Amino acid sequence: MKQLSLTGAAGQSDILIGRGLLDEAAARCAEVFSPSRVHIVTDSTVAPLYLDRLAAQFDLPVSTTVIPAGEAHKRLSTVETIYHDLLAAGMTRKDLILALGGGVTGDITGFAAATFLRGVALCQIPTTLLAQVDSSVGGKTGVDLPEGKNLVGAFYQPRLVLIDPCVLDTLPDATFTDGMAEVVKYGYIANADILDMISRPDYRDTIEDVIYECVKIKRDVVAVDEHDTGLRMILNFGHTIGHAAEKLAHFTELTHGQGVAIGMVAAMRLSNALGAPTDLVPGLVGLLQKLGLPTELPYDREAIFSALLSDKKKFGGTVNFILVREPGKAEITPIAADTLHPLILKL
Ligand SMILES: NC(=O)c1ccc[n+]([C@@H]2O[C@H](COP(=O)([O-])OP(=O)(O)OC[C@H]3O[C@@H](n4cnc5c(N)ncnc54)[C@H](O)[C@@H]3O)[C@@H](O)[C@H]2O)c1
Ligand SMILES: [Zn+2]
Repeated sequence: MKQLSLTGAAGQSDILIGRGLLDEAAARCAEVFSPSRVHIVTDSTVAPLYLDRLAAQFDLPVSTTVIPAGEAHKRLSTVETIYHDLLAAGMTRKDLILALGGGVTGDITGFAAATFLRGVALCQIPTTLLAQVDSSVGGKTGVDLPEGKNLVGAFYQPRLVLIDPCVLDTLPDATFTDGMAEVVKYGYIANADILDMISRPDYRDTIEDVIYECVKIKRDVVAVDEHDTGLRMILNFGHTIGHAAEKLAHFTELTHGQGVAIGMVAAMRLSNALGAPTDLVPGLVGLLQKLGLPTELPYDREAIFSALLSDKKKFGGTVNFILVREPGKAEITPIAADTLHPLILKL
């Protein structure tokens, strides 16, 4: 088992990574929490797979909320359901909430934990690759509004994150592949060794090490910029154009990972156009294709440009891009809209 910790404004967050951790969850929780009862939130896909295995470990009263799976349920009404279940179970501020699931479950449950009685202790048990390498670490929680994604939320660090790579065995291949886009992102922005690790045909056998390296990067970035005012933007490599593409796809025809994959290739082309010393595009495209991710923007370039400018990352006529000059080294580069327009048309 590997361990990382993150010291944030509100205290320490321990992140444990190891095979079999799901079956040790209650014992691991007992090392850092002393609740009188626990409440587990999970979704309708994860519940039949892992809920009983988790709940049965506790010698305490356990209550549960099973939310319908899917991004469409990452909304305030779901949080309200959780609040009612927490009250019905008699949960107090001294108790513990566990989030068992992917990023949707983690974001919703984190927000409920941050706000219920103004804050109840939280343990994240992420079950998708994306949640293991990204969303469960760093303390961003929240829900969507009809107007857009993640518009309501809070920064709230889980005291404990338990990452068990064994649960990835039940993930549909497409969902696993989607998470790999974030893994590639970490490789390019901060640690080129990750790219070597995932270039091997049997990389899934060492996925625990890959997850550890990714989480370490996220931990380091969040430790410097917990509240997302500067460096944390580096984690947006591929996300600026990726998000524009997802928007044009109405968040249905492209998954998040596919958007990020396409966005990374586009950002790498921009890096080239702005004078990167070596052309990193062929290497990136080759890796993404091997992993089963798309690489080309399927949308009109003018439409991409308009979507970019309406994106929340736009600030005073400039768009912040994360450019990569060599694998493992990224920089945040503001590009003025006028400069950007011809570059986007050439993508
Ligand atoms: N908080 C953050 O910092 C942060 C960062 C990145 C993304 N996010 C959020 O994360 C969400 C996406 O997360 P996601 O991709 O994990 O989506 P998700 O939670 O919807 O999970 C994807 C699907 O996989 C199923 N699933 C989960 N674990 C499984 C398992 N072990 N076996 C079989 N099926 C399983 C889920 O039920 C769901 O149907 C988005 O809402 C995004 O905004 C948050
Ligand atoms: Zn992402």
